[in-house]
Amino acid sequence: MKTVQDYIRTIPDFPHEGIMFRDVTTLFSDPRGFRMAVDQLLHPYMDQKIDKVIGLEARGFILGGAVAHQLAVGFVPVRKKGKLPGKTIAQDYKLEYGEATVEIHDDALQAGERVLIVDDLLATGGTAAAGIHLVEQLGAVVVGCAFVVDLPELGGRKHLTDMGMSVHTLCD
Ligand code: PRP
Ligand code: ADE
Repeated sequence: MKTVQDYIRTIPDFPHEGIMFRDVTTLFSDPRGFRMAVDQLLHPYMDQKIDKVIGLEARGFILGGAVAHQLAVGFVPVRKKGKLPGKTIAQDYKLEYGEATVEIHDDALQAGERVLIVDDLLATGGTAAAGIHLVEQLGAVVVGCAFVVDLPELGGRKHLTDMGMSVHTLCD
C-alpha cells in the first residue's frame, strides 16, 4: 500500500537554485493520498479538546480546512502580510529562502482557546514559530503543530520543541 510520502514529488531548483522543493500538489490531487494525509494529521488530536485549527498560508489552508472539518471546529488563517481585510497583528520571520511577515486577525481567537496549527511542511520552523507567536499574543494556547513533511536537516522540529511545542509529522 502506498504511503503519504509516495504521493509527494520533488522539484529541483524551485523557487531558487539549490532548493529541492517537496511538492504536495500530487498528494492533494490524489483522493486516497489526500484523505490519508488528513486522517493521519488529525489522528493524535481526535481525543483532545481543540477549539480552532490554524492554517498557515498557503498549503496549510488546504490541509487545515479539511482537518477543521473533520474535527468539527472552526478554521483561522495565518496569512502573508497585506492579505487579511480586518485589523491584524503581525510577526516577521525567516525562511529557508528569504524573509516574510505573517498576520492574523486580532479578533480571530479568544483568550484560552486551544488551537492546532497545520501546514504542509516543516523546514526551519520559522513560519510555524511566527504562527505560534501570533496565537500566543492573542492569549490562545497551541495544543500541537502538525505537518505532512519534516525536513530534519533544517532543524524545524528542534526549533519548535525548544519552544515547548508538541510536533506531529507524517514523513521526512
Ligand atoms: C513553505 C511551507 C511552509 C514553510 C516552511 O511555505 O508551505 O509554510 O515554507 O518553511 P519554514 O519551516 O522554514 O518556515 P512558503 O513560505 O513557501 O509559502 P507558500 O505556502 O505561500 O508558498
Ligand atoms: N518550504 C521551505 N523549504 C521547502 C522545500 N524544500 N520544499 C517545499 N516547501 C518548502
